[in-house]
Amino acid sequence: MQREDWDRRYAAVENLWSAKPNRFLAAEVADLEAGRALDLACGEGQNAIWLATQGWAVTAVDYSEVAIEKARGRAAREGVAVGFRCADLVDYEPEPAAFELVVVLYLHIPAEERRSVLEGAAAGLAPGGTFLLVGHDLLNRTEGVGGPSDPNLLTTPHEIASELPALEIEKAERVLRDVDGEARDAIDMLVRARRPLLG
Ligand SMILES: C[S@@+](CC[C@H](N)C(=O)[O-])C[C@H]1O[C@@H](n2cnc3c(N)ncnc32)[C@H](O)[C@@H]1O
Repeated sequence: MQREDWDRRYAAVENLWSAKPNRFLAAEVADLEAGRALDLACGEGQNAIWLATQGWAVTAVDYSEVAIEKARGRAAREGVAVGFRCADLVDYEPEPAAFELVVVLYLHIPAEERRSVLEGAAAGLAPGGTFLLVGHDLLNRTEGVGGPSDPNLLTTPHEIASELPALEIEKAERVLRDVDGEARDAIDMLVRARRPLLG
């Protein structure tokens, strides 16, 4: 999907995604001390806004101007400060070694682009910082619910882990997510990693 397609999708409805924070994000950051956070592909900003309410100083990036405007509007209505930025992640270079947390939630793009985004995400982590990626697993296409049908946009947690050579992998696993009104669970992948304190 191109940027214009995302703009159209976001413009067509009030909320394209749940207004609640992602359940895996909430669980994985529960044990972290708040610092600077970067949300890559932030969409309507629900996760970035939630992180900000938990004490994180958040920068959040997406290339859909419509999504970013919706996110800014919600943050303003709720009185929450988040630095929303409109940029293509393939070109975006996070401030190096600046963030205690970098999250990438449900960004499904071709492998070459994904590797470039992951490289930037890892470089943006401060020493000791945590990286979290959650997305639809490749298996979700045939055995799960929702998400992209194009296998070229999907992968596995182990492949993601192999694309983060500078980080220590803490978790690389498939996780199930129940979906309202669906008989089957969605099959997600979750990768949590940490930038070593030295190196
Ligand atoms: C499935 S949505 C997920 C949004 C949000 N992370 C969430 O979990 O609700 C994917 C998002 O990725 C964004 N996106 C896709 N390719 C991108 C790119 N190259 N640069 C920036 N954003 C991109 C889309 O605009 C969209 O908001």
